[in-house]
Formats: sequence, C-alpha cells, structure tokens
Amino acid sequence: MSPPAPTQYKFGKIPKHVAIIMDGNGRWAKAKNMVRVQGHRAGAESVREVVKAAGEFGVKYLTLYAFSVENWKRPKTEVQTLMGLLENFLRDELPELIKNNIRLQAIGRLSDLPENVRDQLHQCIQATRANTGLILILALSYSGRVEIIEAVHSILREIKLGHLDSAQIDEQVFNHHLYTRYYPDPDLLIRTSGEMRLSNFLLWQLSYTEIYITPTLWPDFRRQHFAEALIDYGNRQRRFGSL
Ligand code: FPP
Repeated sequence: MSPPAPTQYKFGKIPKHVAIIMDGNGRWAKAKNMVRVQGHRAGAESVREVVKAAGEFGVKYLTLYAFSVENWKRPKTEVQTLMGLLENFLRDELPELIKNNIRLQAIGRLSDLPENVRDQLHQCIQATRANTGLILILALSYSGRVEIIEAVHSILREIKLGHLDSAQIDEQVFNHHLYTRYYPDPDLLIRTSGEMRLSNFLLWQLSYTEIYITPTLWPDFRRQHFAEALIDYGNRQRRFGSL
C-alpha cells in the first residue's frame, strides 16, 4: 500500500478514526432561501470532498452519521430525497472509491433501508472489500441505543446457546457484539453547525473520544475545515482518565 500523498498542512498526530455528525444542511438551505433538500444535495458534495481528503490525510477510518433511526420521522419527501442522494452517492462514487483504494462499510439497521439502496450498498461493499486504504463507514438507520440493546440480545442468545458464561461479560465481550466490533473507537468526533449534542451517535464508542465542534454548517464544511479539525486534534493531550 502506498503512503498517503504529502499535503500542504502541518498535522501533528493524525487521528486513526474520525467520526462526523454532519449537521446543518437545513439551516444552510434556509439561509439561502432554498428548500431543505437543496441543503442535503450540497451536503452530499461535502461528503465527497471530505472522504477524499480523509484518505489523502492518512485517516484510517471515517464514520459518517448519514441517517439516524429518528430521521425516519421526517417528512416523506425529505426521507426520499436523502435515500435518493445516498443511492446516487453509492452509484456515482464507486469508481472514485476504487480509484482511491477506499473500502466501504455500513453500520445500523440496514434492513430498514429501501431495497434499491440496500442493493447498491451491498454492491459497493463487495466491490471495495479488498481495498486497503481508508475505511469509510456509513451509519445508516443508526441509533446508539438500538445498537446497545441489540448487543444485549446477541449476548443473551450466546448465553442461551451455552457459548458464553455470564461471568465472562466484560467490555471486550460487549464490544464484540456491537456493529463496530471490527473498528477501533473514534479518536476524534466532529460535529458541524455548532450544536453541542451526541444525538444518539456511537454512545458506547465515544467514551474517550476528543470532540471538535465547529459553527460551520455541513454543506460549507470542506477539505480546509477538515484539515483544521485534524490540526486542532494534533494539539491535544489525551489522558484516557489518567494523569
Ligand atoms: C443533518 O442536517 C443531516 C442529515 C440528517 C443527513 C445527512 C446527509 C447528507 C450529508 C447527504 C447525503 C449523505 C451521503 C452519505 C451521500 P439537518 O437536516 O438536521 O440540518 P438542520 O439541523 O440545519 O435542519
């Protein structure tokens, strides 16, 4: 695998795993007298740019909160637009993902997704499975609480089958039952649009994650803003609860 290309930025330590809550599409559109779905369309452009930049900057895992379980409650037209954007992204970006050695993965209740989106998603996951660069993880129909409850059910099933003794349950065992069992916990969480909330995102995994909140709205968040977040992270001291 070739190392990432040099960039003009002076990064300190690069986070191995970056997670992003992409917020502010609606406000971006409103500020421009546009309809909300235009904000989502512009947001999809930011996704393309940030994914490419993450690979170039040497980030190994990038998790994007693209659609939450709660987002199904939005008006039907908005949900349809988001699903359409997702399908287009998966279809149009596949050659780019392959060219840039990016592997696609997804977490969440994927069975909730419309069949066409699910098919496109599985096709992309299959087509990129041997790629060794950035691992792009889309959180789709995702809820941190649902993930934890599903992990509890999965552990109970193993106990019932006699594959696990309840005395063996510890953080590592629990972790193995989460959607994210194949990935390290995020080092950096970025949230755009200035909101100070976790919004049910990666509740278990973010325990020791550094948080970076920027007022920039997601459709305006591009390569330069992503680089600034990484530079900020590079200046932090992580102690994981010790001194
Ligand atoms: C939050 O903004 C954003 C979302 C709910 C969806 C994120 C989707 C995209 C960025 C585009 C499609 C994704 C991919 C992967 C191609 P909001 O609507 O809550 O904004 P607001 O808080 O300003 O109303």
